[in-house]
Amino acid sequence: MEKIVLPDIKDLHLIDVYVKHGGYTAAKKAFGQSPDDIIDQVKKSGLRGRGGAAFSAGLKWSFMPKTTDKPKYLCVNGDESEPGSFKDRQIFEFNPHQMIEGAVIASYAIGAKIAYVYIRGEYHKWIKLLQKAIDDAYAHGYLGEKMKEKFGTDFYCDMYIHKGAGAYICGEESALMNSIEGKRGYPRVKPPFPPQNGLWGNPTTINNVETITNVPPIINKGWAWFANIGEPKHPGTILFGVSGHVNKPGVYELPTGTLLTDIIYKYAGGVPGNKKILCVIPGGSSMPPLRGEQLKGVKMDAESLKAAGSAIGTGGIMVMDEDTDLLKVLARIAKFYHHESCGQCTPCREGTGWMERILKRIIRGDGSSKDLDLLISVANNIEGNTICALGEAAAWPVKYMVQRFRDYFEERVNKEVILPVPNKVHSMRKTAFPLAEIKN
Ligand SMILES: Cc1cc2nc3c(=O)[nH]c(=O)nc-3n(C[C@H](O)[C@H](O)[C@H](O)COP(=O)(O)O)c2cc1C
Repeated sequence: MEKIVLPDIKDLHLIDVYVKHGGYTAAKKAFGQSPDDIIDQVKKSGLRGRGGAAFSAGLKWSFMPKTTDKPKYLCVNGDESEPGSFKDRQIFEFNPHQMIEGAVIASYAIGAKIAYVYIRGEYHKWIKLLQKAIDDAYAHGYLGEKMKEKFGTDFYCDMYIHKGAGAYICGEESALMNSIEGKRGYPRVKPPFPPQNGLWGNPTTINNVETITNVPPIINKGWAWFANIGEPKHPGTILFGVSGHVNKPGVYELPTGTLLTDIIYKYAGGVPGNKKILCVIPGGSSMPPLRGEQLKGVKMDAESLKAAGSAIGTGGIMVMDEDTDLLKVLARIAKFYHHESCGQCTPCREGTGWMERILKRIIRGDGSSKDLDLLISVANNIEGNTICALGEAAAWPVKYMVQRFRDYFEERVNKEVILPVPNKVHSMRKTAFPLAEIKN
């Protein structure tokens, strides 16, 4: 199976090795064509965003205004803060030049002179590695003004890493732009969308790291080559990050449409102890979970997962075996979204905390069946009522896990509640405060 984003080439992160294997020839080819031709090829290739929403990359690029005096920008989104998602940093580490080349081609296609790569601040290692690759690209004339000489073109662009302060919300494209502008990472109301009103009010395109890294091979090998890989409606490969109860967790680049069970059993080595699977979240922690019995025949691409009642998200597959305490898992997920809610929208700010508190109440043994309905009701009131999709990200795991595992949760809320025995507390106090001794 051909790998597009992370080919098995030793030391590909080094610029000489990348160039030896055809690196930066796609950029040269692109500069020989018009920006519209490039957009057309990316559109025809069927490349869809790998950052969560699976939106057509070429179509997104075509939204950028063609006649404007304003500066235009490209943002490459490497915030990657969703639990269960850990694939973009593999690109920074093992194939950074293909991402840089993809960003150069995208910048040319949309007319941007500056590309920002947004990386979560804690990812020190990957920031360092990417910065080294960017420095090397500048030194060799693949970035900056030297590009004119290297490629014999009038076009050139610059690339900067922008470090985030470590917030999931800053991966949301409009919060990301606010963060780059030096403001608090609050999502913006849309419309206007980034191509109309992006960075500092100028036309901006935002794409995920993996999306951008797919671009050079599309230009070099042709859109038809790419369109024929995997599922026709969502072609190419995806970096599937497999975590949880599998023998070989890791990132696997496989064609779209690969069976979820093949990824778990064939590639990730199956479940330790051959236990049954209770639950799988197929696209990062914000996506609707699937029951173990639901997995047969489920293919990993946007359309197939939608039909199966979930979504491809970031391709982060989280596997939970039959001994997993789903209540604790869900409470932990809810805690994350409560913590990461920016607080701008009341349903998300209040609802995420409410869901966390209800789940903790159930864990304490104080929950009832009504709490399960309440969880779904709170989730429904968040979903669709917020400025950005963090609302859905918080609501979906709760709503769908409770709905799909109702039997499991009913059993937990109806269990006999064992309250602490009062005289035990009394005896503990006696030990802690030896009153008789004090009196003496
Ligand atoms: C709360 C939240 C966090 C997000 N985090 C990321 C992220 O870390 N990386 C990413 O590429 N997209 C993230 N997205 C999606 C982006 O808003 C945007 O759709 C994406 O970067 C577009 O790139 P693509 O079209 O190439 O997928 C996030 C969305 C939301 C609502």
